[in-house]
Amino acid sequence: MKEKITQLLSEIRSAQVTNKVQLEEFRLKYLSKKGIISTLFEDFKQVFGDQKKEVGQLLNKLKNETQEKFSSFLQNIENENTSTELNDLTLPGDPIQVGSLHPINIIRNEIIDIFKRLGFTVSEGPEIEDDWHVFTALNFPEEHPARDMQDTFFIEKNPDILLRTHTSSVQIRVMENQKPPIRIIMPGRVFRNEAISARAHCFFHQVEGLYIDHNVSFADLKQTLLYFAREMFGNETQIRLRPSYFPFTEPSAEMDISCNLCGGKGCAFCKHTGWVEILGCGMVDPNVLENCQINSKEYTGYAFGMGIERITNLKFQVKDLRMFSENDVRFLKQFLSTI
Ligand code: PHE
Repeated sequence: MKEKITQLLSEIRSAQVTNKVQLEEFRLKYLSKKGIISTLFEDFKQVFGDQKKEVGQLLNKLKNETQEKFSSFLQNIENENTSTELNDLTLPGDPIQVGSLHPINIIRNEIIDIFKRLGFTVSEGPEIEDDWHVFTALNFPEEHPARDMQDTFFIEKNPDILLRTHTSSVQIRVMENQKPPIRIIMPGRVFRNEAISARAHCFFHQVEGLYIDHNVSFADLKQTLLYFAREMFGNETQIRLRPSYFPFTEPSAEMDISCNLCGGKGCAFCKHTGWVEILGCGMVDPNVLENCQINSKEYTGYAFGMGIERITNLKFQVKDLRMFSENDVRFLKQFLSTI
């Protein structure tokens, strides 16, 4: 038995294990319950007399050395696995892709910032609206052709529920819940049933403004919009107001700015007029105030609404509206430096 153990000892000392399969074979052969060492301990029960001490020590030595060998094999295999996973730590790292704000968000934030400086605060409303907030409360008479101005997406099962066609609906929500003075801007997404092309889309973004207080006049509106135009497009910018029509404002106007590409001299972009249209505006119609339980004898107000895509196009000359919603990174990447 002594000889057998000594032979096993040298076998263990020269054993080579390089992978997990071999390690498991090693364990089964020597260390498992039915392995060689357990069997030897069984046999050891038959050893008597002066042999017992010597064989016992030898057997324990074999057991300990085998266990140590097993542990060191295991550690080697584990180390090898982690070092191949980590590769070469001295190589330079992969560059981290930095995202950028969407151009629509960049311009929306800029618009909001300008009006915040004038004391406006931000309000938002739902995109899925009812007829009252999008049309009726805004003085669109029932069956009136004014409703055709905006091709609406209705929810078929309930034509009273629709996707808002403009952010003017938020005006109503705020006036219903807040008493004057009210000075808010309302950014948001709006929807119109239009064929998608380079110049039209079925959804786009607007920023609406509303100011209600005692003695608010058209002059206040004009000065606010002049301030906005110059902050947004530069100090040289001129504005002009053309009479227009919206059911919820009276009088109503559309505002043009001097073309920011040619400085008003006339170019292809402004169709050689020197002017480009940027927003609709007017004095809040007294009917709208009354619809929201605001006394139109006591209060007056102005409202305006602009398309964010339109302002973004003027700033960045994006020629195709579809670019804004296709999320092509080659397009979006260009706005990294503008943040
Ligand atoms: N809601 C109008 C539109 O979508 C814009 C507007 C807002 C006009 C406020 C006047 C006052 O075209």
